[in-house]
Amino acid sequence: MSDPLLSLPPDPEASAALAAQGLRLELVDPGDAPAVRSWLEADARGFTDPAPTDESVAEQYEDRRLRRTLAVVDDDAPEPVVGTIGVFPAELTAPGPAPVGAWAITSVSVAATHRRRGIARQLLEAELRTAVRAGLPLAILTVSEATIYSRYGFGPAVRVAALTIRTKRIRWTGPAPAGRVRYVGRDALLADVPGIFDAARRRTPGELDLGGLLLTGLLGRPSEGDRTRERRFVRYDDEAGAPQGYCSYRIEPNLDDFADGTLHVIHLVAATDDAYAALWRFLLEHDLVGRIEARLRSVDEPLRWMVSDQRAIRQTEQDHLWVRVLDVPGALGARGYAATGRLALDVDDPDGYAAGRWLLEVGEDRTGRARQIAAVPDGVPSLALDAPALGSLLLGGVPVDTLTRAGVVREGRPGDAARADVLLRSPRTPVLGEWF
Ligand SMILES: CC(C)(COP(=O)(O)OP(=O)(O)OC[C@H]1O[C@@H](n2cnc3c(N)ncnc32)[C@H](O)[C@@H]1OP(=O)(O)O)[C@@H](O)C(=O)NCCC(=O)NCCS
Repeated sequence: MSDPLLSLPPDPEASAALAAQGLRLELVDPGDAPAVRSWLEADARGFTDPAPTDESVAEQYEDRRLRRTLAVVDDDAPEPVVGTIGVFPAELTAPGPAPVGAWAITSVSVAATHRRRGIARQLLEAELRTAVRAGLPLAILTVSEATIYSRYGFGPAVRVAALTIRTKRIRWTGPAPAGRVRYVGRDALLADVPGIFDAARRRTPGELDLGGLLLTGLLGRPSEGDRTRERRFVRYDDEAGAPQGYCSYRIEPNLDDFADGTLHVIHLVAATDDAYAALWRFLLEHDLVGRIEARLRSVDEPLRWMVSDQRAIRQTEQDHLWVRVLDVPGALGARGYAATGRLALDVDDPDGYAAGRWLLEVGEDRTGRARQIAAVPDGVPSLALDAPALGSLLLGGVPVDTLTRAGVVREGRPGDAARADVLLRSPRTPVLGEWF
């Protein structure tokens, strides 16, 4: 395994609790092909995906080397893997120049035959403790069910939008970048994707580093057959010929009106504003397309300001990235801030990780330092909140004012929420364009 954090032993407390139910918590060795296959089969069953094939399993061996893979095993069950979780250490982009280290949790599933006996709880609590052992200040996840994770201290921090664009109704009014958009084959694009993605995610709060192989999955894998073959790929090269963005998409023809197809944006990644403009313009002006559907986009796309009629773009939103703060000084000290100032936070956290009264001090260099305090100093604004709310505020995408009006955050004195917002808000709206 490349990263030693991936092979930290299974959490002893969860192992003991599961053993009391006759179950084993195991770290799956990515070199053990039968064990990886059983785990992938359990994961697919849990998420109601089609059963893996020999080809898809073979493609995923390398991915498993980039993740920590744990299985709950019931030796008496015909399909013994009854619980799955996958984890990887990630750099999460936050406001400010440096990313924050995070324990990215994926693939939480429990066999329908073993549900509601506390297996998922053991897995999640185990990996929160492991994250602390690994020295990471945050755990993060994307969720298929939004009602499960606040009980573990996660709060929704990044919302995403699904866009529906009626292209016949608009003209492009945005800039006309001097570089070129060109078609590229999937395999040729593979070489450019890590560099482009890396530059793009570093300038976008809410994005994280996805290992190279996880990214290739986003381009479609050969085992996905027609789903991969119907994708088209374009790349934007700047004036100097350097690749700065790419888009994968597919077009669904309208058989009743061939000029009115639907273009589905699968993934659009731009490392520069020019790449963003050029790729969107290419999509919007595509012949035989009357409608564009794009998911996992920012709730605040600049695109809206690059077309002649904003109403041609409709969006629906949902929570996407959830954040759990495990180490308050570590998390608040790693992100940057929009202003100097001080803020006191009274955090209620029954699990203990973030509990306490904290003072955040942001200096002239816009970095923060947080430490535990006994009493709020005179004149310092203060907020009382729980651990999920702290997770929701961490990336600066959720206004403190909104949470205060919702009764989720309580301000010490009227006006404290507004003062906190000046410090905490991110100049760029966070987004996460992928599931992990
Ligand atoms: C969701 C899932 C992992 C839960 O596993 P489980 O072992 O049955 O969960 P647990 O028994 O440990 O329950 C943990 C807590 O979550 C709650 N919970 C479990 N599943 C839930 C659901 N689908 N919706 C809401 N709450 C749920 C339980 O009530 C329990 O709460 P409590 O401890 O406060 O009483 C399992 O049902 C599953 O695999 N579902 C399909 C895959 C999936 O959706 N995974 C989640 C990915 S984000």
